[in-house]
Order: sequence, then C-alpha cells, then structure tokens
Amino acid sequence: MNFLTLAILSLCFLLTSGEKARFENYRVYSIKIQNEQQLEVLQYLENSQNGLFYIESPISVFKSAEIIVAPHRFADITEFFERYQLENEIRVDNLQKLIDNEQPKFTPRATFGWEKYYDLENIYSWLDQLLEQYPNELTNYNFGTSYENRTIRAVKLSRKKGNPTIFIESTIHAREWITAATATYILNEFLSSSDPQIKELVENYDWVFVPVLNVDGYAYTHSTNRMWRKTRQPYSSSSCIGSDPNRNFDFHHGDVGSSTNPCSETYAGPKPFSEPETFAISEFIKTVDNLKLYMSFHSYSQLLLFPFGHTYDHAPNHKDMFQIGTKTIEAISKRYGTDYVTGNIAEAIYLASGSSIDWAYGVANVPISFTFEFRDKGQHGFILPADQIIPNSLEVLDGLKALVKEAKLLKYL
Ligand SMILES: *[C@@H]1O[C@H](CO)[C@@H](O)[C@H](O)[C@H]1NC(C)=O
Ligand SMILES: [Zn+2]
Repeated sequence: MNFLTLAILSLCFLLTSGEKARFENYRVYSIKIQNEQQLEVLQYLENSQNGLFYIESPISVFKSAEIIVAPHRFADITEFFERYQLENEIRVDNLQKLIDNEQPKFTPRATFGWEKYYDLENIYSWLDQLLEQYPNELTNYNFGTSYENRTIRAVKLSRKKGNPTIFIESTIHAREWITAATATYILNEFLSSSDPQIKELVENYDWVFVPVLNVDGYAYTHSTNRMWRKTRQPYSSSSCIGSDPNRNFDFHHGDVGSSTNPCSETYAGPKPFSEPETFAISEFIKTVDNLKLYMSFHSYSQLLLFPFGHTYDHAPNHKDMFQIGTKTIEAISKRYGTDYVTGNIAEAIYLASGSSIDWAYGVANVPISFTFEFRDKGQHGFILPADQIIPNSLEVLDGLKALVKEAKLLKYL
C-alpha cells in the first residue's frame, strides 16, 4: 500500500455530538525525520486528512513528529514506516489508559485544589472567590469573548503603584492542562504564601494572569476530545476546525514553521489575528502599563524558549535572555532534577512563526519574553498525571524566582 492509500483510509475520526472521543489501544508513535523525502510524505499525510492525529506536526528534517494511530491501522503504519525507512518508536501503547489514569481515582475534596485538573467553569468560579477574598489587590478583566462566546479573563495582582508588570499567559493550547493548573497554583501561592522570596515578588511586581486563553478549546478537551489543541472556529474553505493560536499572532504570520492547511495542527489561520482569542489578548496586552516580561505556559518537552521563532538569527538581547534562561533552568532542576533546555525557539526546537512571545517581543516591545514547555518529555506528554501538578508547579516557581532575580540583575526589571 502506498502512502496515498494509507492517508485516505486512515485516521478518519468522526464524532457525533455529545460523544466523547475514546482512544482505546491507540498508540503514539514518535517518528524521526531524517531527510526531505520523509518530511514530505509525513506532511502529505497530515495535509490529506484531518491533521488531528499528529501530536507533533512534521516540521523539519532532524526533528521528530508524533502521531496517534488507531489499532486497526497498526499494520498500515508499520508498512508505511518500512517503505520510507522511518525510524520510529512507540511512545504510548494505550492512549486511553493514560487518559483514564490522568485524574485521581478518588477526589480528595470538593473545593478547588491542585490534586486534580479542573474545567473552565471551576477555574472561573475559583477566580470569583479570590476576587471577593482579595478585593484590594486583585482586579478582574473580562478582556475578550471567544468564538463560542465564552468570556476570556485575566486577573491582575498588584500591591502597590508603579511596579513593573509581569504577564503570564496560559493554556493557549487546549490540551496542555498542566498549564492552567500551574498558573492557578502560582497565583494561589502569590496570594497566600509566607515565603519571603515570594512576598518580595508580589510586593515589587504586578502580575497579570490569563489562566486559560483558548477557552473554547479547553472546554472541548473536557467535553469531547482530550487531545484537541487549536481554537474552535470553522472556516468556509475547509471542514477542519480551528487555528493554532500560537501561530496566529501578527508577527511574521504564516512564515516558516506554520501551515496554510486548515487541517494541520499548526494552521496559522486565514489571516493574522483571525481568531478572536488572539486578537483580544493582543489588544489587552497593549493596555498593560509598564510591561517588562511576558511568559507563555505550554507543555510538554521541558524547554525554556525565547524569541525568535521565525528565524535562526539572534534577537538583539539574545545573550541576556540566554543568561536568564540558563539561571532559570538551573533553579528548576535543583528541586527534583527535572532537566530543561533553554534557547531561542528556532534553534532549541524548530522554526515557528506567529507565536505570542515573538509578537510580545517584536511588536508590543516587551523587552524579554519566554515560553515554558513544562513536564514531561513524552512519557505521558499532554496527559501528565494530576499527582505531578504540585511538583511541576513547585519547580516552575523556583524557576520564576531565579528568572526574576536574573532579569533584575540585568536591569530588565
Ligand atoms: C455568539 O453570540 C452572538 C451574539 O449573541 C451570536 O450571534 C452568535 O451566533 C454566537 N456564536 C456562537 C458560536 O454561539
Ligand atoms: Zn503548546
């Protein structure tokens, strides 16, 4: 069977409404891309079907792609791998089992916490409680409305006037649940911790949190498909839904490392800021005073990335960001030995255009910006078990302390 037939036969994934996608015995394969021909066939596969089944799109030679394969396609995919001599490895043997084990079997308490993952409504009602509890230091911003008319919210934590502002954007990619859990954990620590280092961070900086940016996608991962990444806006040109919001910003939009195909997981969208979510946050960012540091939370891979993604050329203050990044990942590894790698996006992972941190840096003139790719390195991938929420949050918080310290030393904060 050639790859054309495989593409047509494979991976068709239709859901009737109200049904939740199951991934019983589905495998996740990691595929090494070693030459242009391999890249081409893998991209063909993505473009010829709902690209849904790539977890990591095939973007360039010498990187890997990850693909989800249904049990009745194992034989085909094996033949496909052999035909194109694609080196591959089974990363996950039964995706549904990972999903079933993601949340704890027994929920220890009814109130909001960090021992399980929460949906958007629970996160928002927790924010409402905080706003009541801390009316003098917390401000709410309903800064946007998603395609499906959900409110996109931010809260700002400020204890005094004139502070530099640090921005945390979380869950721009729907399935990266650990990001919302970590962002809310950090906000909670900031409000309640007696650790002098944390108190100092909160006294001397204003913090803006967007706990869930891709609200529609996040809701969809809870209701229907745990593996959804993109927004939920349809386009007249295709039956595939949604753009990659982290390729949709108006900075080198549609350049290298993003797709023009609506079925791709890295579809940049029909035009810059075609997605209401990315447009809303960009307008909101412009209103934030004294914004000195922008961060975007993602998973997984254990990386700390900074601009640029559209070019291998180094940003003007590349050296400083590398230095800050290095101190940060050293601090992250101290607690549990979790290894991160730091670098500019293009060199540390791959070319990717139109990301939020590149836009914040390149257009909104925020002097330093970073993307965190949290745990793990693919063992669970996006389905990080809930008992890792607190360890992940603690090491990231260690990293944040070091990041702010080094940025201050270099006079960015
Ligand atoms: C969102 O709300 C507007 C105004 O009420 C409505 O016209 C539109 O159809 C809604 N969109 C969706 C996707 O529900
Ligand atoms: Zn992501």
